[in-house]
Amino acid sequence: MATTEPTTPTTALPLGATVHVGSDAAREWWRDAVIYQVYPRSFADGDGDGIGDIPGITSKLDHLKNLGVDAVWLSPFYRSPQKDAGYDVADYRDVDPLFGTLADFDTMLAGAHDRGMRVIVDLVPNHTSDQHAWFQEALAAAPGSPERARYVFRDGRGPAGDEPPNNWQSIFGGPAWTRLAASSTAAGDAYDEPSPQWYLHLFDSSQPDLDWTQPEVRSEFEDVLRFWLDRGVDGFRVDVAHGMIKADGLPDWDGHVAMVEGSSDGDDAQATDPGAPEDGSTGAGNQGPMFDQDGVHEIYRDWHRVLAAYEGDRCLVAEAWVEPLSRLARYVRPDEMHQAFNFSFLTTGWDAAALRRVVAASYRANDEVGAPTTWVLSNHDVVRHATRLGLPDAGVRPNGVFATDPQPDEELGLRRARAASLLMLGLPGSAYLYQGEELGLPEHTTLPNEVRQDPGHFRTDGAEAGRDGCRVPLPWQADAPGYGFGPTGATWLPQPDSYGRYAADVQYGDPTSTFELYRAALDTRRAEGLGHGGLTWLADHADAADVVALRNRDVVVLANLGSTPVELPAGHEVLLASGPVDTTLPADTTVWLRA
Ligand code: GLC
Repeated sequence: MATTEPTTPTTALPLGATVHVGSDAAREWWRDAVIYQVYPRSFADGDGDGIGDIPGITSKLDHLKNLGVDAVWLSPFYRSPQKDAGYDVADYRDVDPLFGTLADFDTMLAGAHDRGMRVIVDLVPNHTSDQHAWFQEALAAAPGSPERARYVFRDGRGPAGDEPPNNWQSIFGGPAWTRLAASSTAAGDAYDEPSPQWYLHLFDSSQPDLDWTQPEVRSEFEDVLRFWLDRGVDGFRVDVAHGMIKADGLPDWDGHVAMVEGSSDGDDAQATDPGAPEDGSTGAGNQGPMFDQDGVHEIYRDWHRVLAAYEGDRCLVAEAWVEPLSRLARYVRPDEMHQAFNFSFLTTGWDAAALRRVVAASYRANDEVGAPTTWVLSNHDVVRHATRLGLPDAGVRPNGVFATDPQPDEELGLRRARAASLLMLGLPGSAYLYQGEELGLPEHTTLPNEVRQDPGHFRTDGAEAGRDGCRVPLPWQADAPGYGFGPTGATWLPQPDSYGRYAADVQYGDPTSTFELYRAALDTRRAEGLGHGGLTWLADHADAADVVALRNRDVVVLANLGSTPVELPAGHEVLLASGPVDTTLPADTTVWLRA
């Protein structure tokens, strides 16, 4: 690339359309916060059992402080049989012994607060674990009982009731209904034969869906919110926030339901398809009578009131795979939640035109309701962006990568990931980081199938690799067993050999490292007020097909997504760059300039 003649010469920085106006008004902290997702079982292990835990998190708070994030979001650490890595909650008011105790939680929370960082916890309201006391009571109770009414039990179809009540599929694969066996229901059903009753689970059969039309379910969860608010948490990430209310009558639906949504035609289609939606949609939204029903909004209006009764700016962030962005914005209307993950952005391919479209559409939708946009590139459900952007077909968003699949170009993936992150962190709004991305960590793409644990792998009979590859324990020390994940070297999933190169300790203080790039970006972002700045496209670059070019306050952000270097405007100080730059901006590189 470096030997190719630069194209698109640019010496001036003329302004084009303004798509978002900044503000210096007093604002709630979450409006421009950088929030770091900790996936507890894979972050840091304090007790040496190979599974991360809360004392492990406490021991690494200085890493997060040093990185410069404003808040931490913890994936579930509640009592759980861990059938879906804790997203199957058996007791919403206790810490699973695997992760520690409530006292450990309080220590961690105080440690974060002492360092000026907020803490958001995960709330899983769509379903409980089948080991939750309520579900056990439901099994023991009779059909039609109040205990069964907390969940979605229905009689099966067909004369013998041996067909599921409707045709819905689980997001993890297979039917979304499980029939009660005679043995599990003898007390309640008093049948010798299998019960005619089935229960709904949009996810694994160990995750029965709650019936949110029941007042008791609503009051229970308001109480759970208060339990954690009283302990001092700063907010909640709400799991499957678009799924709790189902269409009346649970009508059949023949559409596609899967863990992995999104267009598999990917970025090429987005770039060249003249019909590519201006609204930034990528196909990432879940559809059907089980998602995004209008009734969910009433729940969030209630929860908004619960949070508002507490001091400080507590917040709710929606995990809602909903498109278009204008529809997602309904979750963050002034009396509902405060933020929603922007999965249209996450699922947009490495394509300048598509990124410009989704960025503009995000501001259009959220400015309308007065909510901040959020930006996110990786989380515990998707292939890490350092790998995604290096896959042979960068447009595809697979559900994990098998060892037998075409493997990513690691160097290209890292270069693009650094460029993508620097672009993201230059945008006004709030940004979510997933643990390890500050190290440039790739997915484990050669995990042996025998070690996989994601229910999505098993429920598809091994057709999908699943999400384990993005959940591999973090490398903290290059030269320690288990790369310093814990005191014994044990890790619940094997780490690839490459993780030594990415270990945190070899990155600290190295100005070329990804950790130092993130640290500098967060520092500059704060100093320049970029999180609450505005966004104006730069006309010349906006016309250049492969360059995303924008101005946010006194900073110009240029990202070259093309394959040829672009001449940098003369006379502008380079504040930060995702890779080496001279007078040109190489391919797959982002730069921040002083405007
Ligand atoms: C959300 C979580 C995912 C989990 C699912 C079921 O999508 O992010 O990890 O498997 O909900 O709770």
